Amino acid sequence: MIVVYDSLTGQGKRFADKLGYPVEDIRTFETKADTPLLLITRSFNFGEVTREAAAFLDCYHHLVIGVAVTGNRNWGANFGAAGDKIAVTYGIPLVLKFEASGMPEDVTKVKQWLDRHHHSNTHQRSDHHGHVQNHG
Ligand SMILES: Cc1cc2nc3c(=O)[nH]c(=O)nc-3n(C[C@H](O)[C@H](O)[C@H](O)COP(=O)(O)O)c2cc1C
Repeated sequence: MIVVYDSLTGQGKRFADKLGYPVEDIRTFETKADTPLLLITRSFNFGEVTREAAAFLDCYHHLVIGVAVTGNRNWGANFGAAGDKIAVTYGIPLVLKFEASGMPEDVTKVKQWLDRHHHSNTHQRSDHHGHVQNHG
């Protein structure tokens, strides 16, 4: 399992570092192995998916078991909206939206989600759309 972070100002990277798995920057990430990935991304421009996340997901969506999104509740309905869009577009479970670098309970929630989903996903096969089959 590798945590891939898409972080402009460092909040998402700080969150990724707290999860206890190897982390990699989305801008330099590449793999040929079928390693399960967790994506930590962010929203910009009123809830849009970043260019970096879109490029990464176009290549690796079949390996991504879940996505968590950092944002700010001041953005109202667009809070973490990139996560909703990624879930719909790529069929990837949205694990959590959190603010800034996350509260301790946010870290716990994502760790618990990984405990429940990571092992079973290690040998998971994608469906014919290339989407993971294990939602929630
Ligand atoms: C130009 C700009 C646009 C943003 N748009 C959103 C948004 O649409 N929704 C949201 O929840 N947060 C939005 N934010 C807040 C960031 O997503 C938030 O600060 C996040 O923690 C930054 O993560 P990073 O430090 O990993 O880059 C925006 C911030 C900036 C500077």
